Amino acid sequence: MRKPIIAGNWKMNKTRDEALQFIYSVNMKLPNKALVDSVICAQAPVLRDLVKRQGDNLRIGAQTMHYLDQGAYTGEISAALLENIGVEYVIIGHSERRAYYNETDDAINKKLHQAFRYNITPILCVGESLATREAGTTNKFVKEQLVAALKGLGSEQVKSMVIAYEPIWAIGTGKTATAEMANETISHIRQVVKELYGDESASVVRIQYGGSVKPANIEELLAQSDIDGALIGGASLNEEDFLFMANAAVKK
Ligand code: 13P
Repeated sequence: MRKPIIAGNWKMNKTRDEALQFIYSVNMKLPNKALVDSVICAQAPVLRDLVKRQGDNLRIGAQTMHYLDQGAYTGEISAALLENIGVEYVIIGHSERRAYYNETDDAINKKLHQAFRYNITPILCVGESLATREAGTTNKFVKEQLVAALKGLGSEQVKSMVIAYEPIWAIGTGKTATAEMANETISHIRQVVKELYGDESASVVRIQYGGSVKPANIEELLAQSDIDGALIGGASLNEEDFLFMANAAVKK
């Protein structure tokens, strides 16, 4: 059985005061971590404050990091620092990072290796554009992203990571992939993991769906056989909505 994982990607939202207020009000109402992993991925300057105040059932993640240990990389964040301040997850290869900051498959692969080196669980994002979906080449595209991202990783690493399928056309647009469509591509992703790492890794790796997930559609998405959770942008900013979605995963 795969434990569901509900992660909020706050992107560039919330001040320190707003972030802390959120944490204080959700901490006691989140599902038990034995049943669901609940994660908030926030802006870097507030991560330490959130880690210090995370309740038993909440964990904190970063939204990106560099693949090198240290050096002259102005503005970047190191895995060493994230580990040092108690951050346990990091989103790698989000489509916004790929599109606006030229994050390449090669850099994403290096970042995954780096995350494992520092005991941080990566949430690897993959997903196609509308043009790719309409051309009918989604599976091929997503497979190429996966093969490039996972290069050189061992099966124990793949088993412990999280993959998020986020079709770009469904992010922040209000257009969700239908639950069946999401499940179909996620099953394909599991199949690719099977081809690369075998049955056991494929049956253990957790794969989330992301793209306009909200209280109104979370249950239908989680009811699908291969969807193990959600990576949530906009709707994770609201305390009640995040709590609803985390608690919905208990029934999975
Ligand atoms: P929305 O939930 O706002 O569509 O964002 C999805 C996303 O990009 C999460 O990483």
